[in-house]
Amino acid sequence: MKRLSLQHARKEFLNFFASKEHLVLKSFSLIPENDKSLLLINAGMAPLKQYFTKEKKFSKDRVSTSQKCIRTADIENIGKTERHATFFEMLGNFSFGDYFKKEAIHWAWEFLHGKMEIEKERFWITVFKEDDEAFRIWNEEIGIEQDRILRLGKEDNFWELEVGPCGPCSEIHIDRGEKYAKCAEDVSPLHPDSSRFTEVWNLVFTQFNRTENGEYLPLASPNIDTGMGLERLAMISQDADNIFEIDFMKKLMGEVEKLSHKKYKTLEKDDISMRIIGDHTKAMTFLVSDGVLPSNEGRGYVLRKLIRRAARHGILLGIDELFLNDLLMQVIEDYKDEYPELKENEDMIRRVVRREEEKFRETIHQGLSILEEMTSQIIDSDKKVLSGENAFKLYDTYGFPLDLTKEILEEKGLFVDEEGFKVALDEQKTRSRSARREGEAGWTGENHEYLAKLEKTHFSGYDVLSEEGVLTAIYSKGDSLEELSEGEEGILVTNTSPFYGEGGGQVGDTGLIIGPDGKARVIDTKKTKNAGILHIVQVEQGEFSVADPLKLLVDINRRRDIMKNHSCTHLLHRALREILGVHVHQAGSLVTPDHLRFDFTHFEGISKEDLAKVEAKVNEFIFAAVPIVTEEMDYEASKEKGAMGLFEDKYQDKVRVVSMGDFSVELCGGTHVKNTGEIQMMRIVSEGSVASGVRRIEAITGRKVYEFILEQARKMEEIALLLGAKDGNIKQRIESLKSELKEKEEIISQYKKSRSKDIFADLLKMKKEVKGVNVVAAALEDVDVETLRNIQDHMAHELESVICVFGSKVNNKLVFTASVTKDLVTKGAHAGKIIAQISKIADGNGGGRADNATGGGKDVSKLHEAIDAVEGILEKMV
Ligand code: ALA
Repeated sequence: MKRLSLQHARKEFLNFFASKEHLVLKSFSLIPENDKSLLLINAGMAPLKQYFTKEKKFSKDRVSTSQKCIRTADIENIGKTERHATFFEMLGNFSFGDYFKKEAIHWAWEFLHGKMEIEKERFWITVFKEDDEAFRIWNEEIGIEQDRILRLGKEDNFWELEVGPCGPCSEIHIDRGEKYAKCAEDVSPLHPDSSRFTEVWNLVFTQFNRTENGEYLPLASPNIDTGMGLERLAMISQDADNIFEIDFMKKLMGEVEKLSHKKYKTLEKDDISMRIIGDHTKAMTFLVSDGVLPSNEGRGYVLRKLIRRAARHGILLGIDELFLNDLLMQVIEDYKDEYPELKENEDMIRRVVRREEEKFRETIHQGLSILEEMTSQIIDSDKKVLSGENAFKLYDTYGFPLDLTKEILEEKGLFVDEEGFKVALDEQKTRSRSARREGEAGWTGENHEYLAKLEKTHFSGYDVLSEEGVLTAIYSKGDSLEELSEGEEGILVTNTSPFYGEGGGQVGDTGLIIGPDGKARVIDTKKTKNAGILHIVQVEQGEFSVADPLKLLVDINRRRDIMKNHSCTHLLHRALREILGVHVHQAGSLVTPDHLRFDFTHFEGISKEDLAKVEAKVNEFIFAAVPIVTEEMDYEASKEKGAMGLFEDKYQDKVRVVSMGDFSVELCGGTHVKNTGEIQMMRIVSEGSVASGVRRIEAITGRKVYEFILEQARKMEEIALLLGAKDGNIKQRIESLKSELKEKEEIISQYKKSRSKDIFADLLKMKKEVKGVNVVAAALEDVDVETLRNIQDHMAHELESVICVFGSKVNNKLVFTASVTKDLVTKGAHAGKIIAQISKIADGNGGGRADNATGGGKDVSKLHEAIDAVEGILEKMV
């Protein structure tokens, strides 16, 4: 058998299939494109689905890749078995209606046996039980003995994802040798968790397309989809015990050893932690590099779980500092030749991971001690299950992913009520679900069928703001009408219109529609799914009838403001990517005449300096007066041009590309000014967080900036007036007021001191003895708590042994204070209990320590009664 490093094994495989006329492609991103059925790419064929169904085509019908994959279904097995990983690369060769079973099997054999020199007697094969052809090829053409070819059912030998190409398959297992056997029964791949036999390669004879409803539709031509775990291949080639002990992983584990000052292979428990850290570090590095940011949902949550789980195992190993952002440098170093983007994104990857680990470390200790309390309660009450509510509390307040809580509990033989957790999570989601803006799907009013059926309206509003058209339909109150009269509200539909229907974050236009017999105000414009434009109107004069010729007039000033804000949104998007990094992606946008709101992915607050830089950058582009060009082109061409943005409208083959010099190129259906200079100026008015990993910036442009400046100036004048700063010298005036205030505070404090001295002298005279104990109890007026405390301190100092209880009427409320010197505390006197009792008399409450306590009361008429009660209370106490 040939001994190859991981990086070499990959090359060997891809070169082999290049020699078989395959087009070798780079790995696709971990984030699926145009595939809502998948969270993360989990197989080599996943990014290629549309090629199997012939919706897309490469220059050749046979390709080969080493595809980055993430699988988290087995996350609790990671580190415990020899072959499970969350991140791995899948080597694959694919045929899109080109070659089929015979070639796939022959080449697999040629590669493993011929190239990798794996001995024939180590091969075990499985085939789908009805697949005689595969059986025959393996047996007769390759020469594998019959008893080494196992015929299995659909559960084992039919490969499919939720949705997409699938079919029967044949798996290749390699016997790693008896020394790896777990037990005496581990003698064939049939053993359920064999560690001696490793499945390395799966050859899928893709013949069907599984639809969302679970139907299997035959594909036009049979295909081949194969997948071999690169790490498993390297493990076999290097005769390593497990995938954590292959060349690259050893280096990574070495780093973990250094950080934790622990030796691998000393303690099983530590080994598991080390392997988990190794595996997760690799996964997080690739995930962040592909643009995933930690969050509480979807892919972001997968990443968050991986980082937090790795961080916790770091803590278990005794690593006290943030370490993941350093450790992952080893991954970048080792993979940068095959994946140069890791190096390009290095800074961002480190920052994201560091920030997430930091966040978790801030709360983990507190969370762990709360969990500790919760578990001891469970154990004390002889139970085994942590309530969903408590698991949710750990998740919500201390950032413990459910898996982590489960793992910690399992270490103690306990469980989580996962259903209960889901209920609590759903409840929170319902609570926090904000009234989100209607999606891009188009407005359907009250879902009237006729609106959905409307044909596309020609939109002229990119070029003109007034136009003549014909009224083609009228709708009102759920009905299709022939006429709409004065005072009525309804929807007017025309053959053509310059009115922009709300979409892509841009609000709808308003304006006027004038017909031969009437005038209507357009209060909003919406767009149906099929791009029908709906003018929502109120008839101000006369009436409208179907077939009327119309004048359509958009409110020009309002629309200009909208266009400025929309163009400015593109500049802002670009400037954010430039200043903060290319992980910034649009997450939402609202463009109105008054302001723009832009939501985007970013993992931390933005510093004042960066925000100022973003604002300056945008304004630079405005001042440079760059022409804004819009062009229609096909999607592929727009991609070549580097256009940012999503293209989701499958029904249109052309996309609109809006370019502002080379700076910003975006796919956009909105309306824009012709030159960035028309925006005039931009000012950011707020920045904050909207959801985990999503920030929001609000900004204004043009006229609004002018109004903003005027408003600021007016405020300054008002402030100057209030401060009495005649010559406008506000700063000086504030400074002199501050020092005046300070002087006055000093005078007050002096006054308070002398007053407390006077009061003290009076109170000292009121000293009584109760059962031989010094007691000073008094009702006062307008003496604040601070002064009362002061007096108590003096009294204790003067008399050494005393109980003071004071009540005072301040601002029409009562305050009570009590103090007991130490010697009397030991005799049973308790300030807190005294206060509790007397506060109650005055319809209030209070309490505190044995030596010191405060309380309050609402009923001021009870002041004396409360203080008079003190003697009686003390008689029972001391
Ligand atoms: N798509 C097949 C798998 O993932 C090859 O196993």
